[in-house]
Amino acid sequence: MKRILVTGGAGFIGSNFLHLLLQGEGDFQVFNLDRLTYAGNLLNLCSVEDDPRYRFIEGDICDQKLVTEIFQSQEIDTVVHFAAESHVDRSIMGPGEFIQTNVVGTFTLLEAARQMWPEGKGRFIHISTDEVYGSLGEIGLFSEATAYDPRSPYSASKASSDHLASAYFHTYGLQVIITNCSNNYGPYQFPEKLIPLIIQNALSGKALPVYGDGMNIRDWLYVEDHAKALLRVLEAGEFGETYNIGGNNERTNLDVVHTICDLLDEMTEPLEAGGNRRDLIQFVKDRPGHDRRYAIDATKIKNELGWDPSVDFAQGIRNTIQWYLDQDEWTKAVLDGSYRDYYSKMYEGR
Ligand code: NAD
Ligand code: TYD
Repeated sequence: MKRILVTGGAGFIGSNFLHLLLQGEGDFQVFNLDRLTYAGNLLNLCSVEDDPRYRFIEGDICDQKLVTEIFQSQEIDTVVHFAAESHVDRSIMGPGEFIQTNVVGTFTLLEAARQMWPEGKGRFIHISTDEVYGSLGEIGLFSEATAYDPRSPYSASKASSDHLASAYFHTYGLQVIITNCSNNYGPYQFPEKLIPLIIQNALSGKALPVYGDGMNIRDWLYVEDHAKALLRVLEAGEFGETYNIGGNNERTNLDVVHTICDLLDEMTEPLEAGGNRRDLIQFVKDRPGHDRRYAIDATKIKNELGWDPSVDFAQGIRNTIQWYLDQDEWTKAVLDGSYRDYYSKMYEGR
């Protein structure tokens, strides 16, 4: 029976992964170690908290004593490591937490695994981002062979953690697999990232902030498809390998915002003030060091592990909007927390 330590399972992608994992019949125990930062929300896990295979542990991945104690007492043989500070704009406002959690926290987990697992035992799936590769021009795709060129404190901290994970494979033979995924969207995403932020603002008739000219491109992937890819990696990924995961779905930010506006006009009551949602768009000062384009070549995971995204953007964005419309309570609970302070700090005077 596998004994899995998931870190950051109360966040956006981690909670979607836990839902998928626990939907399966598998014989395993899963422990979710999460510090419950502003981005960690136990409401995301209501539907799995009574599963006897699941247990939540509140704590910090940087806490070496706690991490070692969990490895020992729970006989952990698998790590799926999501925990991170994940928002680029926050990393620009204050990089310290990103270095601490993303670099020191990853190091702490790797070190515990190295000390606890005999050679040839254990598996450590390190979840990372395509942002480590930097910014693309108008053509080309990120492959697993693309050189790292991180440009924000967030991506630099993730790149550092990837290098540490890779070094533990080469130096100590730790059975590590790294995944680098493109931008995710879907249920349970904290409304600081583009898609849920635009949905919330457009619903309440607030301005829709688009950075710069709105022509930056991201490769959007529905979060359940990312979770499915990670399950395949867990089942069949090869140690020491990296897998790029992407949606083959490049869109400019402006196109994404337009799509959300038009769907909300169609799916909900008109705005009280009249007009349509596109009228709420405001171009604001660009993000410093704003990467222009990300796009993933996911051929390797497709050919080697048989994974392909199954939800196209038209369906995924509709599902996502419907989810936020249905989850009024979730949204209220999120919005009356620390989000408000952050929101005014970020957008005042912009
Ligand atoms: P998130 O910000 O929604 O969640 C992060 C989770 O980590 C939260 O539950 C938080 O409480 C927890 N956490 C933070 N610091 C911690 C600490 N020190 N100890 C324990 N728990 C801590 O992030 P997400 O969007 O779900 O991203 C998850 C992972 O996937 C991250 O590693 C991120 O870099 C990576 N990733 C994200 C995307 C994306 O589009 N969101 C794309 C590719 C890769
Ligand atoms: P984000 O969701 O922060 O993800 P990332 O920076 O990790 O790609 O941003 C996605 C894109 O949307 C990015 O190009 C920045 C842009 N953006 C806006 O134009 N307005 C916003 O309010 C936010 C949060 C992002």
